[in-house]
Amino acid sequence: MAITTDRRTFLKATLATGLYGFARPFATAITPDGDWIESVRAEFPGLKHSRGYFQTGAFGLCSQRVIERTKDLIDRQNLGPAHPDQIDYLKNVERECRELVAQTFGAKPTEVALTANTTTGLNIVLWSIDWQAGDELIISDQEHPGLLLPCYNLVRRFGIVLKLAPIAQPEKTVDEVVARLTPRTRLVVMSHVSRGSGVVLPAAALAAALRTRGVRLLLDGAQGPGNVLVDFHAIGCDYYSLCGHKWLLGPKSTGALLVRSDVLESTPPTWTGSNAQASMNEAAQSLEWHPDARRYEFSTRYVAGLGGWHEALRWLDGLGWDRIRARQAELLAYTGEAIKATRGMELVSPDNLAQRNGIVVLRLPEGLNATNIYERLRREDNILVSPVTAPRDLRLSVHFYNTEAEIDLALARIRTYSA
Ligand SMILES: Cc1ncc(COP(=O)(O)O)c(C=O)c1O
Repeated sequence: MAITTDRRTFLKATLATGLYGFARPFATAITPDGDWIESVRAEFPGLKHSRGYFQTGAFGLCSQRVIERTKDLIDRQNLGPAHPDQIDYLKNVERECRELVAQTFGAKPTEVALTANTTTGLNIVLWSIDWQAGDELIISDQEHPGLLLPCYNLVRRFGIVLKLAPIAQPEKTVDEVVARLTPRTRLVVMSHVSRGSGVVLPAAALAAALRTRGVRLLLDGAQGPGNVLVDFHAIGCDYYSLCGHKWLLGPKSTGALLVRSDVLESTPPTWTGSNAQASMNEAAQSLEWHPDARRYEFSTRYVAGLGGWHEALRWLDGLGWDRIRARQAELLAYTGEAIKATRGMELVSPDNLAQRNGIVVLRLPEGLNATNIYERLRREDNILVSPVTAPRDLRLSVHFYNTEAEIDLALARIRTYSA
């Protein structure tokens, strides 16, 4: 199915009215052309290895420049890992990464702890609380094991009570959460974007509602940054945990926890080790933490990966986030329309402009199993998608480097296997 002039006109009009919750009158002018799309795709060796890469919600692809930067840093580290010149150079790599993460996602550099993944950041916050039996923790009913397992662990270790709030209808989420608050609620933790349905949390409204009630909010941002707009201070949550390896196209084992300055002192580290301290005194058996979020970082770290991630962020920034979003939005509208036009297939992920994002979930016709279709697409067509929570739900993660032709092919093959 080729894109038609009518469809293109519709898409451009759609873009102009705002896809990410605010008006984007300039979007029509920046919608990328074919040359831009080709030059972007040429950066990613991984795109040549499949006929449709739709697994960015699991792992994004690294561009050649990110791969090379990471390799260069590994080489450099091995020139003499303990040489002061190398140590200084690598410290600078971390500093640059921290500063760019802060700048890109609306935080201060002092509010950024560089981590290895989203789950680490979630654990840092979950374990900062002095939990007592009967304390309550609210999460949503659509969470990933990366959050569920730490929560079940807290239930087992401390006897806390875990409450689930439904989030399928975003306009009701704030009320659903507020209805579950009690004097024993110590924290609310939720995915900014659900990995199984693509539902986007009304994050700013929830943060505001919880702030007035004195309850902190931690967002699981595994599917957020690079997929939807993230401005930490504009959202107003207390903590935001994210990873570099999905929509931000960095190497695996990269991520960050954003911690608002005003909750830093009341969010104590749990696990720690060398380099988390501003100073320590062996005679007095005492320490002073770093005055900023570096207090959650310790020991020997994967600096080469952080350098690779910095390169990915730098390149994305150079491409232009508005252009990236415009292209992704164009593809999302195209994919949504194509799914809705297919008999027997249902679009599960949100279709309205404020909610639409790269997590596109379709429901297969009755009697089919998403894992089987995923296997056939992988084996017979070399098209990579993901089966998600419900047995008939298949996820296509659509990023700006995908194409309409890949989407057409994937949907055609799914249709064939569904017949
Ligand atoms: C919503 C959500 N949370 C957490 C995770 C785990 O992320 P990480 O591997 O960065 O810890 C994922 C991974 O897919 C996810 O989708």
